[in-house]
Amino acid sequence: MRRPIIAGNWKMYKNTREAVETAAKLLPLVSSAGDVEIVIAPVFTVLGAVAKVTAGSNVRLAAQDCFWEHEGAFTGEVSPAMLTDVGCSHAIIGHSERRQYFGETDETVNRKVRAAIRSGLMAILCIGETLAERESGATFAVLERQIKGGIAGIPITDMDSVIIAYEPVWAIGTGKTATDAQAQEAHAFIRATLASFTDQATAARCRILYGGSVKPENIRGLMIQEDIDGALVGGASLDSASFARIVGYES
Ligand code: PGA
Repeated sequence: MRRPIIAGNWKMYKNTREAVETAAKLLPLVSSAGDVEIVIAPVFTVLGAVAKVTAGSNVRLAAQDCFWEHEGAFTGEVSPAMLTDVGCSHAIIGHSERRQYFGETDETVNRKVRAAIRSGLMAILCIGETLAERESGATFAVLERQIKGGIAGIPITDMDSVIIAYEPVWAIGTGKTATDAQAQEAHAFIRATLASFTDQATAARCRILYGGSVKPENIRGLMIQEDIDGALVGGASLDSASFARIVGYES
């Protein structure tokens, strides 16, 4: 059985006061969420403050990115060890906004995933096709390239530290969710591709999250799909009540 994960990507929203308030409001709403792994990803600058709120709770903390070096003259970067130091257990890596606006490639994403794992973080590796790629029939080729590139050089024994987030770029922040069937089709392809690069058992254990306009109204239909193990939620994670409803998709 794969443990479900609901992760909230707060993107570049919320100052310290807002982030602390949102986290504090969330905790009691999800304290009896059962077996769901709950993760929130605030901006770097508020991680320490939010960690104090979530300490001892069932809510885990993620960064939205990390660098691949441990320390050094890399102005503006933050290492995975610095993230664990401040209380993070997860890092989102290779989000499409990073690929689109900040020049991230499969190679830089791979270096970051490997560094994150080395430091004991769970890496949430984001992949997904653009609208143009989907319309030209390139979806599976893009996903295969991103998976192959993203997990290159990772020993099979470390693959349990990798979570894949399938986020079709055309569904992010647009209100357009992939249909349950479209998402399941992509997830099944991702799992089969993972099996071809690792092995069946490893692929069967890997958690694959769906992301792109996930809301309380559509989470349940997604979660009942065989290969959908959770969600990476952007907009709807900014409000504690709506995120808690997504976490409680079974209720
Ligand atoms: P969205 O964002 O839920 O606002 O579409 C998802 C994401 O970018 O992770």
